[in-house]
Amino acid sequence: MITVEHLTKHYGRVAAVDDISFEVPKGEILGFLGPNGAGKTTTMRILTGFMPPTGGVATVAGYDIFKQSLEARRHIGYLPETVPLYPEMTPRSYLHFVGKIRGMDSNLRRARISDVAEKCKIEDMLDRHIGKLSKGYRQRVGLAQALLGNPDVLILDEPTVGLDPRQIIETRQVIRDLGGEHTVILSTHILPEVSMTCERVVIINRGKVAAIDTPANLQRRMRGTDEVEVEVRGPSEAVRAALESIPDVVSVNERDNGAETCIFEVGCSVGMDVRESIARTIVQRGWGLRELRPTAVSLEEIFVQLVTAEPGT
Ligand SMILES: Nc1ncnc2c1ncn2[C@@H]1O[C@H](COP(=O)(O)OP(=O)(O)OP(=O)(O)O)[C@@H](O)[C@H]1O
Ligand SMILES: [Mg+2]
Repeated sequence: MITVEHLTKHYGRVAAVDDISFEVPKGEILGFLGPNGAGKTTTMRILTGFMPPTGGVATVAGYDIFKQSLEARRHIGYLPETVPLYPEMTPRSYLHFVGKIRGMDSNLRRARISDVAEKCKIEDMLDRHIGKLSKGYRQRVGLAQALLGNPDVLILDEPTVGLDPRQIIETRQVIRDLGGEHTVILSTHILPEVSMTCERVVIINRGKVAAIDTPANLQRRMRGTDEVEVEVRGPSEAVRAALESIPDVVSVNERDNGAETCIFEVGCSVGMDVRESIARTIVQRGWGLRELRPTAVSLEEIFVQLVTAEPGT
């Protein structure tokens, strides 16, 4: 549904987007993750036809976004980073205005407005002045605007920014519901958001793709060993020696927790579950087993590893 090949955008000598390629199949929700200045907004603006790239090709719904811009744009709904809203208008008049520009007749507009207002939960705000709406509601009006034409492709630049926690949960649900029928690219800084909403993630850093994979695979890939955290009440040196003697355990690190118990991070060969051996070992020696749990590499750690890695490594 979306293909991006060797896309590049230079601002003077700065390469904001530097040879990015990826594809998004129909119905997928793709997360765009990267630090400030990574090139997320630039890529999205190019994809929505807002500005030309310096090089490369992009297609949306089979149309070249530059050569067949009009057809391509007809298939795209775009929530920009800052939504250009008119404070004097109400969401209803604004959405009518947007619909008119897109060539929708008044019956269609009315039907679509009531549909998107329900989806974005702005029904109660439709007739207030946009200038008097809270930031979160303005963001939702922006989302409603993107959905208005019922586009095949939605490009959402930080859709949950400025929303309160409850609104974030609701908006994520709205986005998840869009998947399947619509193809969605969304950018975010919020890492858990990616694992909650997206099927695949593109991590971009300094204009380049650092990784593309499912959130689960990224977590697996970055982890050389599986890790288990154990909290034990017992003599720490003896506990450590006992843990180290367990087959498939490759590392034991003690974490100071300043209490009467000691906490160990036990690394083991990938795919080997050592939890039962650990439990048996501890209990047999008469020590107290307080906690035993596998620790997953968080997306935060993966992200930090990827974006701080030296180029070329
Ligand atoms: N109009 C412009 N003129 C010059 N440089 C620009 C312009 N727009 C963006 N840049 C530069 O391009 C790079 C990428 O910016 P972009 O806005 O795409 O990042 P981003 O990933 O969206 O960041 P953020 O998370 O802060 O929104 C940055 O170095 C930025 O300074
Ligand atoms: Mg941005």
